[in-house]
Amino acid sequence: MNKPSIPFIIAMTFFMLTGTFGRAQNSLNNKDSVDRKWWKEAVVYQLYPRSFKDDNGDGIGDLKGIISKLDYIKSLGVDVVWLNPIYSSPNDDNGYDVSDYRDIMKDFGTMADFDTLLKGMHARGIKLVMDLVVNHSSDEHEWFKQSRSSRNNPYREYYHWWNAEKGKPPYRYSLFDVNHDAWRYDSLTNAYYLHYFSRKQPDLNWENSKLRQEVYDIMKFWADKGIDGFRLDAFQFAAKDTTFPAFPQGFEKNFTQYYGMQGNLHGYLQEMNNQVLSKYNVMSVAEGAGNTFEDAHNLVDADRNELNMAYAFEGVDIAKPEGYSLLHLKSVFSKWDSAFAAKGWLSVFLANHDQARLVSRFGNDSPQFRALSSKMLTTFLMTMRGTPYYYNGDELGMTNAGFTKIEDYRDVQTLNEYQRQKNLGADLQKYLQRISFESRDNGRTPFQWNSTGNAGFTKGKPWITVNANYKTINAAAQEKDPASTLNYFRRAVKLRKDNLVLVYGKYSLLDKQNPDTYAFTRELNGKKLLVLLNFKDKTATAQTDINLSNAAVLLGNYDRPSKDGTLKPYEAVVYELK
Ligand code: NOJ
Repeated sequence: MNKPSIPFIIAMTFFMLTGTFGRAQNSLNNKDSVDRKWWKEAVVYQLYPRSFKDDNGDGIGDLKGIISKLDYIKSLGVDVVWLNPIYSSPNDDNGYDVSDYRDIMKDFGTMADFDTLLKGMHARGIKLVMDLVVNHSSDEHEWFKQSRSSRNNPYREYYHWWNAEKGKPPYRYSLFDVNHDAWRYDSLTNAYYLHYFSRKQPDLNWENSKLRQEVYDIMKFWADKGIDGFRLDAFQFAAKDTTFPAFPQGFEKNFTQYYGMQGNLHGYLQEMNNQVLSKYNVMSVAEGAGNTFEDAHNLVDADRNELNMAYAFEGVDIAKPEGYSLLHLKSVFSKWDSAFAAKGWLSVFLANHDQARLVSRFGNDSPQFRALSSKMLTTFLMTMRGTPYYYNGDELGMTNAGFTKIEDYRDVQTLNEYQRQKNLGADLQKYLQRISFESRDNGRTPFQWNSTGNAGFTKGKPWITVNANYKTINAAAQEKDPASTLNYFRRAVKLRKDNLVLVYGKYSLLDKQNPDTYAFTRELNGKKLLVLLNFKDKTATAQTDINLSNAAVLLGNYDRPSKDGTLKPYEAVVYELK
């Protein structure tokens, strides 16, 4: 074999260092001042293991099921999978109540399955991000069993206890508790323990350095296995003022403001970064970004050595049963973009396992517009600045579940709130109507693989009912149709991967006051793309002053888009401006 020439070696080294190997069209010239990172250029596909694919027929998705679908995931073009929790858990909150952080949930398989999964992902060039659930554990975790056993137990300080002889502790709000009371009395030691989520999710005491060390060791355990990142669940609530002062009257339930970003949270994150994150090539993302841009920057600015990204809820929270205003959505996304234009990095998302379905909340899930509006929303997510997080099933345009009875639901939050409404003597029909739009279970029904029984998800009885529309909305049918939402998603991902301008380029909102259309440009080093989106079920026109006569259409959900800004219902177009 011939020896490689010096220029060849230099060129290869350059490509490898800049990460542009095999993607020369993406290489940036020396005018660029962008700080390139793989996690900025990634498209993250969020996978809900319980509902993705069941291999052993018990009705619950599992790791072997995911392994059997790795080629499908690869075919999407995404480069990172964020897996919801797969650790041992009694499943009070579908794995967000961990009883052993170093073992795999029995329903999902074994550690050997996990190793095979990770290997299979890496072999396909896909990275794996794990959920790290350490604001709380399960009450069935050994730490908690020890902690509750006596006041003198060495694990007592791993959790927050309030001895009952001091009287009832100052009120703390619980998101999932039937009474929204975060203190649970435990007669065994005559004390209350704290749980911001369900009673089976006691909050861990981050003020205890031993507990923190345990968490860092757990993180190292997974990082040593070769995983590529952590999503820190509910982490903004981890630090607490352990004197538990009473909150000002009227603010006791003001969750993000009074419960988030407290105490020495940033100190703990810097410690975590120093001991774990900085030692591995892993990405880190926090669920929640605090109350202000300052909070968000404090979490993610590179010079602070805490995390890479956080995701803020302001955008995803906009959609309500009564609808939402596009002007509102544009202003929220634009203001977050501008706050991070010079420093820090954003996550961009509109759906996940804690939300109802993307198309049902932000688009239009009627048969006429479901596919079109799904594609339009996909275009939006793939063309914004920030790392897109895309939830499994949205690439098919899966819709809300259509449940009508409380017996259909499985989610602890939905069920406990139903019980609370019942205790209060409230109108339960009204509640059922509300949850048919917003329950988290809407986004958790099984992935619709094909038109066979149970959508090809399981040969058994699914843990939650499959959406009745699976015969028409499923991956197999969409594979065959070049114009399907699935194939559109693939094209949109590819467009992002082929155009660094969509990752790093400057974002400018156009036609700001237009209530129907969202128009913006992305610009980097002389390359300029224009994105036009119609969020309505009627024709609308985006006024941009941009001459489109020479523009090239890079992506669109209709044939032959106009060249004058007129958009058909839910039309999406990405133009390259010449
Ligand atoms: C946020 C997670 O996304 C959600 O699913 C979970 O219920 C809570 N944190 C508690 O862990």
